[in-house]
Amino acid sequence: MAYTLPISILLCGVIGLSLAYSGPDLPPGPYCGRTNECCKNREDRCSHYILGTMCYCDEFCDRPNGRDDCCPDYQPVCDPQSTPPPGEIKKPDPCRHGGRIYRTGDTRKEGCNTCECVFEYEQNNWQCSRDPCIIDDDVISYVNRDYRLGWRASNYSQFYNKKLKDGLIFKLGTFKLSQELYHLGAVNYDKDIDYPRQFDSRQNWANFITPVVDQGWCGSDWAVSLATIISDRFAIQSKGAERVRLSPQTLLSCNVRRQQGCKGGHIDTAWRFASVHGMVDEDCYPYKARVTTCPFRAEGNLLSDGCRPLVADRQDRYKVGPPSRLVKEQDVMYDIMVSGPIQAVMTVYQDFFHYSGGIYRHSMFGDQQMKGYHSVRIVGWGEQNGDKYWLVANSWGPEWGENGYFRIARGVNESGIESFMVSVLCDVTESSMK
Ligand SMILES: *[C@@H]1O[C@H](CO)[C@@H](O)[C@H](O)[C@H]1NC(C)=O
Ligand SMILES: *[C@@H]1O[C@H](CO)[C@@H](O)[C@H](O)[C@H]1NC(C)=O
Repeated sequence: MAYTLPISILLCGVIGLSLAYSGPDLPPGPYCGRTNECCKNREDRCSHYILGTMCYCDEFCDRPNGRDDCCPDYQPVCDPQSTPPPGEIKKPDPCRHGGRIYRTGDTRKEGCNTCECVFEYEQNNWQCSRDPCIIDDDVISYVNRDYRLGWRASNYSQFYNKKLKDGLIFKLGTFKLSQELYHLGAVNYDKDIDYPRQFDSRQNWANFITPVVDQGWCGSDWAVSLATIISDRFAIQSKGAERVRLSPQTLLSCNVRRQQGCKGGHIDTAWRFASVHGMVDEDCYPYKARVTTCPFRAEGNLLSDGCRPLVADRQDRYKVGPPSRLVKEQDVMYDIMVSGPIQAVMTVYQDFFHYSGGIYRHSMFGDQQMKGYHSVRIVGWGEQNGDKYWLVANSWGPEWGENGYFRIARGVNESGIESFMVSVLCDVTESSMK
């Protein structure tokens, strides 16, 4: 009991000292510098009062495991050559950004890029990825300044913080067409009729045309464009009896051979699937924007799938006939007028993501190297001040473009959209044909 008191006082003193001597708010001194005396061992002339206790200017205070009772100016006065002992190396400055402090390993976003606070060469520094983002302020301002271009650009929040290289995967989704696809039989209607200057499937077949779909962050345009075109055509060909909304999820989840789901697909593989196995409707199997386990048997029908047909004599899934290629502008127009929207594949560059209205033509603004292929649904055509266009449904939701649609120059193979256009006929039921 007799020893307890002095020991605890001593401990307090040591703790008090070590705290007192490391802060920046110590009384400024000088201490050792007052006499410039430094000693080998503890001696009165080398001790000074600080904050009600003592600090020392001797080698004893400077022992390896913590220099906890040296006077604050011990090092510059008594040991100016020494480097600080290990464990006392001055901490490197942290990374800073926007008034905030970040430690080694912390990250922050800069647009679509990520910056990491990295420690190298004894310093913390920001290291940022430098990928082009989908949205580019220069594209927006250049496009909107160039009134001859004919279309306008917008700052879409749905693309914020997304990289262009990812947008080309997850907002598109069509694999480059194989050469043999270009040998697909083309239909030649060669109808010499008066084509209307404007045609809009939505007006011609009110309520039959599928609303614009949002494919989400999933490269499923190959599934969405086909599902919507077939839906429109089922309604049109059946004169409304089979006004069905077919689910792109059927293709996304069940057509997995040779396909990459949300990372893209081959449109011809999708047609083949739709013709052999068929599709089910959106109510039965809603679109999820991701690949899920296909719940259907390959050889099932709507009843065994647990889906509800709209007409009594339908049991089979919704299937299509073989596709045919449309090559000439007027044949495309004829096919749309008679049978409904068609599918087309176009090339997409960075500027297209910004489109908010007008007649699109690929511009010289933005990245010209990175591109992807996009399957879309052409629902009609028109002319504005003599400028001919196709009217096209995109699959990026109704907030994008002109209520989800865009117009693109017609008759000039703009963005390659006229290099691959296809039509399919649907297997409507007998009863709906009457
Ligand atoms: C687009 O929006 C972002 C986020 O609000 C903003 O930082 C950027 O300056 C905008 N760009 C243009 C060209 O308006
Ligand atoms: C249309 O343009 C694409 C590329 O943009 C090109 O590959 C294709 O050959 C063109 N087609 C025609 C018919 O000119």
